[in-house]
Amino acid sequence: MTDKIKIHPSLLAADYTRIGEEIKAVESAGADGLHLDVMDGQFVPNLNFGPPMVSAVRRITSLPLDVHLMIVDPDRYVQAFVEAGADMVTVHIENHPHIHRTVQHIKQLGVQAGVAINPGTPVRAVSEIIDELDLVLMMSVNPGWGGQQFIEHTLRKIGEARRLIDVANPGVTLSVDGGITANNASLISSAGASLLVAGSSVFAAVGGPASGLRTLRDMVTPATQGT
Ligand code: DX5
Ligand code: ZN
Repeated sequence: MTDKIKIHPSLLAADYTRIGEEIKAVESAGADGLHLDVMDGQFVPNLNFGPPMVSAVRRITSLPLDVHLMIVDPDRYVQAFVEAGADMVTVHIENHPHIHRTVQHIKQLGVQAGVAINPGTPVRAVSEIIDELDLVLMMSVNPGWGGQQFIEHTLRKIGEARRLIDVANPGVTLSVDGGITANNASLISSAGASLLVAGSSVFAAVGGPASGLRTLRDMVTPATQGT
């Protein structure tokens, strides 16, 4: 795979008192989009924000907004997130008996549709829906918090998902989310990821978010040959 690896900083790790500055910093440093994690205290134990936050972020950036819904009954809220400015909406397969209908609903609203799978969910769970998807979101931590350690066995799943995508629907973005650092970013992209979601390693980087993003970018950008 020779396409550029994309990076979406996850705002979960940003300083919300300075959210505008944090976004401008990663935008200037070349972020390809922003990842917004939405948690409801039910699908995951943690609780955070809803559509008003997406709408506020929409007003200050033109970057694609990649909204990751970690909520029960996402169908109730998909339209509100699209109206708030989401460009991509991802729902989890684990709590979803009617994933096909939800994916159609997201696409009918004119945005990209993603399906997320947890570390304990097999890749084959998305095989019957892959034709309909724009994105598969491979969780490499159990969702709910930033700053967790990358779960190693997901590397094997990334490879498996890459093979499934290449055969079934090569246009699908393979996104990996959780525990991505400068130490493992290269391994994850080599395993087949086309999009890296990174919170702590960007926003909690010692040198600040722009530096954190550039460091990650350097790890996944092949050195120019012959110069
Ligand atoms: C975890 C979220 C992630 C999180 C990643 O539930 O889905 O997007 O922000 O954070 P880091 O990069 O710190 O693991
Ligand atoms: Zn996420």
